[in-house]
Amino acid sequence: MVSGVNNSLKQPIITLKNASTGYGIAQALWEITLELYPREIVALIGSNGAGKTTVLRVLSGVLPLWSGEYKINGEDVKGYTPPDLVNKGICHVPEGRQLFYGLSVEENLRMGAFALKKSRAEINERLEWIYNFFPEIAKRRNQLAGTLSGGEQQMVAIGRGLMGDPSILLIDELSLGLAPVIVDRIYETLQKIHREREITIMIVEQDMELALSVASRGYVLENGRISISGNSRDLINNEAIREAYLGV
Ligand SMILES: Nc1ncnc2c1ncn2[C@@H]1O[C@H](COP(=O)(O)OP(=O)(O)OP(=O)(O)O)[C@@H](O)[C@H]1O
Ligand SMILES: [Mg+2]
Repeated sequence: MVSGVNNSLKQPIITLKNASTGYGIAQALWEITLELYPREIVALIGSNGAGKTTVLRVLSGVLPLWSGEYKINGEDVKGYTPPDLVNKGICHVPEGRQLFYGLSVEENLRMGAFALKKSRAEINERLEWIYNFFPEIAKRRNQLAGTLSGGEQQMVAIGRGLMGDPSILLIDELSLGLAPVIVDRIYETLQKIHREREITIMIVEQDMELALSVASRGYVLENGRISISGNSRDLINNEAIREAYLGV
């Protein structure tokens, strides 16, 4: 076992095994095998078009598998719809944030609890919990989402995802288009939330150094295949990876 991460005794919360899929007849993923263990933060890294978003679409049920296995806590969930998987605890914060720009911050956050059977009191309690982590958006709860800065929009997108109290949070390109100081701030908050809640997080990033500084383990995708995986320290010190992704 590599140092730092010992998952051998635990059951994975998510298992993808030999998972292949694509769009129309164009294959995008080839026999992907990955596991997420409870309470891990795992990075999925790769360059443009490698298939990172496609993996998240598979995990959230938007894109069906052509072949292979998908299990949550050992249960076969292949073919489950996105709402089925939300009920299994999966939450996908999509690339590009995709807020309702004509609605307020608070209305956007409330959308995250839409379709979940939660009482008004529970929803209000969760709202305050999220505002406590992201005071920047608490101040702007009545402001239209479309008028927020990029960083504030990302906070709303993550907050909306957390409204449903997911056990597995999948976040696509959190850092895209944001200043490093804002990215650090959001990742710090995410780590705080992770310490407080039983939550497993998969982060998708093109920036390998950033992703591996947050995650304990990582998978590298290349042309729809996982080329290498391991714990973050080993990956960051891997010479082939340093050459390919860090240019050093
Ligand atoms: N809706 C779609 N229809 C057809 N092909 C698609 C679609 N979405 C993605 N693809 C193709 O699937 C492959 C993987 O794309 P994907 O979006 O998963 O990559 P990515 O790693 O998330 O890239 P990026 O870093 O640019 O977001 C690419 O070749 C892409 O062109
Ligand atoms: Mg993508």
